[in-house]
Amino acid sequence: MKIALASDHGGFRLKNIIKNYLDELGIEYVDFGTYSEESVDYPDYALKAAESIMKGETDRGIFICGTGIGISIAANKVPGIRAALCYNIYAAEMSRRHNNANVLALGGRVIGDELAKSIVKTWLETPFDGGRHERRIRKIAEIEKTFISEQEK
Ligand code: RB5
Repeated sequence: MKIALASDHGGFRLKNIIKNYLDELGIEYVDFGTYSEESVDYPDYALKAAESIMKGETDRGIFICGTGIGISIAANKVPGIRAALCYNIYAAEMSRRHNNANVLALGGRVIGDELAKSIVKTWLETPFDGGRHERRIRKIAEIEKTFISEQEK
């Protein structure tokens, strides 16, 4: 599994912690930036990393801003992305089991490093339950399709 990493300045510090943790777990990643604490705009990084997932260059993503809110909103504008902002382990587990989330969003200014690592581990290891949840994921994709075809008119 190859992970796309993205952050703004608010998530930069935690992104480095998560990179070290992924190294420990032996999980490959591509870091789409940002690469310093200089102020930047989170949609730019969400877009680059989300595109890599949609092109199949990476499998899933971990996106981090100050709260995780902005970067998850931006990521969810990319068709096919299901970004889940998780502040606890239960949400991380359910975002995989029920929502088949392909992006985990974290708030670098909200949660502690050890909790973030536990959330990441749970999220990486938990599979999608499938079954009735497949239908709901399909309905989300249908909503996207409706709006994409509206724009093409
Ligand atoms: C940047 O100051 C901050 O607004 C950003 O990291 C994020 O929290 C937005 O949702």
